[in-house]
Amino acid sequence: MNPHPRRTSFSPPYVRSPLAAVALSGLLVACSGDTVGVDPEDPPEVVPSVRTELITEARRLIRERGLNPVLRPPLVHSEIVELGRFLAFDKILSGNRDVSCMTCHLPAMSTGDGKSLPIGPGASGLGPERSHPDGDFTLRHSMALFNLHQVRKFLWGGEIEALAGGGISTPAGDHLTQEMQSVLRFGISSAPGMFPVSAPEEMLATGNELAEGFGEDHNFTELWSRLMVRLGEIDEYRELFEAAYSGTDFDDMTFAHASNAIMSFIISEFSFDDSPWDLFLRGDNDRLTDRQLRGAIDFMTVGCTNCHQTDILDALPGNEFHNDALAQFGPGKGDGPGGHDDFGRERVTGDPADRRRFKVPPLRNIELTAPYGHVGQFTTLRGFVEHYNNVDSTLYAYDISPVDPLLQPTLLDNYAEILMTRDTLLLPIRLDEETVDNLLEFLKALTDASARDLTHVTPSRVPSGLSIDRIGSSN
Ligand code: HEC
Ligand code: HEC
Repeated sequence: MNPHPRRTSFSPPYVRSPLAAVALSGLLVACSGDTVGVDPEDPPEVVPSVRTELITEARRLIRERGLNPVLRPPLVHSEIVELGRFLAFDKILSGNRDVSCMTCHLPAMSTGDGKSLPIGPGASGLGPERSHPDGDFTLRHSMALFNLHQVRKFLWGGEIEALAGGGISTPAGDHLTQEMQSVLRFGISSAPGMFPVSAPEEMLATGNELAEGFGEDHNFTELWSRLMVRLGEIDEYRELFEAAYSGTDFDDMTFAHASNAIMSFIISEFSFDDSPWDLFLRGDNDRLTDRQLRGAIDFMTVGCTNCHQTDILDALPGNEFHNDALAQFGPGKGDGPGGHDDFGRERVTGDPADRRRFKVPPLRNIELTAPYGHVGQFTTLRGFVEHYNNVDSTLYAYDISPVDPLLQPTLLDNYAEILMTRDTLLLPIRLDEETVDNLLEFLKALTDASARDLTHVTPSRVPSGLSIDRIGSSN
């Protein structure tokens, strides 16, 4: 069962303006609009200003596209959130005790790390400064962690997903038992915390008791119980878990209890519904600037809402994965001739038609989470938006020079192949300079001001006593 279904039917929270009937032909023409068509025989009525027309048109499109205000997550009791806060910042969950979830999802960097590809274990420095002595990187760009209670497919290839029939599918298969699933408060949205611990380049590393043997048999059950052994050696964790899940002994708990707490923390602290766009969706006409209104209209008319369709501007069920015609670089996922390619969704479904399809990511707070794309192809939002102008030619004109110099030599020379499964929905999109400017202003209207600095979520210590990775002001 999915306890938090997406809202699919549209119930307008606002009344349509009586001025809506006015012809919109002059919509994008900058005129004062006050004296158009005045005829002395015909007493002047109130002629709507350009702004009113923009608002009316934006609201019409919103209704037509079925875009709804973001749903707030249900409250989780504070003992679970506090346990999750500690676990998310505690390096105890990584094989060599040197990386926490928040090393790559830094609150000071709006839950990202500012790098095209993050760097996991064995590294030094944080955020854009982080570096590895051997030049190692993770395989994909770190994703933002906003409004995850609304997300049903996780990771760039949807490797963790809610299935249409009600079940869930993850890389752990049967190791994630029904009993474990029953602990997951937000269903699939509580599961992603179980997997970074199993990735050598993210948290597991090598040469430690957690990693031993995992590479050969992928025995998640064993890995997760070794993690619970580690946590159980710290009395404070035993107490925190038993306070969070009262009535259950620590020794009867599994790593699902830990993941559930971490994701409850993430969902409680990183869910936002107060951007100017959210307020507009809830009926407030005064929050968007004229240019943002134009950008919203452009977003809904040039084709962006063919894929960015929901309240968080990701895709509707069944439409989540597309080939956005982006260049590929970095270590890759072992696909293609040299093993440095990433076939995205095909890796999950086995269907060659899904080759290089990646998840349509949510766009809330997008201004804050550069770089963009599944390997961080663009360091600026403008770069990403300009990519949509005639994608076949912009792919060939791709300029990797703003990306980390260490990654530049790894750029694959496979553009023709990328275009073989490039989504045809992208083909008609043409963006002139003004439209790009409008779209960028619209995307900035998706920023909730309180997401700009999230450092206050950082605890002052963690139960293991290990150091906390943080940048920016301390709490
Ligand atoms: C070394 C960096 C790193 C660490 C450490 C890390 N992550 Fe991530 N995170 C990533 C990357 C990279 C992705 C995208 C991976 C992919 O698509 O395969 C990601 C994706 C995610 C997603 C998916 C978001 C979405 O919308 O699909 C969630 C949730 C998440 N991480 C939570 C966590 C949690 C919880 C932890 C700690 C248990 C953690 N991460 C540790 C780098 C990291
Ligand atoms: C064919 C479906 C499709 C269309 C149409 C589309 N997008 Fe996307 N969008 C995607 C996919 C898929 C990704 C992720 C691609 C990747 O990283 O491989 C994405 C990524 C993005 C990103 C970067 C997000 C991030 O966190 O990295 C932005 C910004 C964006 N789209 C904006 C737009 C705008 C603006 C338009 C309209 C001009 C648009 N999109 C049209 C599918 C689409």
